[in-house]
Amino acid sequence: MVKDAPIGVFDSGVGGLSVLDEIQCLLPHESLLYVADCGHIPYGEKTPAFILDRSRRVAAFFREKGAKAFVIACNTATVAAVADLRQDYPDWPLVGMEPAVKPAAAATRSGVVGVLATTGTLQSAKFAALLDRFATDVRVITQPCPGLVELIETGDLSSPALRVMLQGYVEPLIAAGCDTIILGCTHYPFLKPLLAEMLPPTIILIDTGAAVARQLQRLLSDRELLATGNPVPAQFWTSGDPEHLRKILPTLWNFPGVVRSFGL
Ligand code: DGL
Repeated sequence: MVKDAPIGVFDSGVGGLSVLDEIQCLLPHESLLYVADCGHIPYGEKTPAFILDRSRRVAAFFREKGAKAFVIACNTATVAAVADLRQDYPDWPLVGMEPAVKPAAAATRSGVVGVLATTGTLQSAKFAALLDRFATDVRVITQPCPGLVELIETGDLSSPALRVMLQGYVEPLIAAGCDTIILGCTHYPFLKPLLAEMLPPTIILIDTGAAVARQLQRLLSDRELLATGNPVPAQFWTSGDPEHLRKILPTLWNFPGVVRSFGL
């Protein structure tokens, strides 16, 4: 692997852009490739076998492009695919992500933590293990959010439909006394402005994008693979409609980028 090779970042859709942004800000010399599997969204309601198959196709695509590292910027794909991908590519720096239970358990003062995530993430054995490990002294209220990702994918982050749905998902968490809410899906950080309107100001929101960027930095630095040159603008591929991604990209991504079709 060469230092100036790109980094591949993957999500079921545009959610991983919240992670891509953290990577871009922390590692501005890196060239970034991003695959949004919008043609198969939402992953939250798909089987682990289906998601593993999609993740393997994307991994093979990034390998072909010479990516020096792979970031699964999706909690749902991580639980379904990260273990197999690590076996497939034992020497490839690979970063997955999971809901931030440990920092949330450390941050809560009320002792009640809420988790907003997809059904797939919340039902996984990996999430259960995370709770067993880090949430022994706190009460955790989980809230699956079917439908939310599809509304975020429209690119309208303040639509009436989105407000109503989000309100319905956060109300039980507020009622249960949560003072800390984990955003356990990479799409949800885009809802922070809406959540700020809906939640009492004392509630802390925790997501893992910045931690993932730091972990990527550590892995690359350990292998002396951090880029030093001038990066090429981010390249995006979508298995959905490239025109739609081109249209909504400027609301979700503050840097230049080229969008193409992903046909695998
Ligand atoms: N963005 C993804 C995550 O972090 C999943 C969205 C979906 O359901 O496709 O879990």
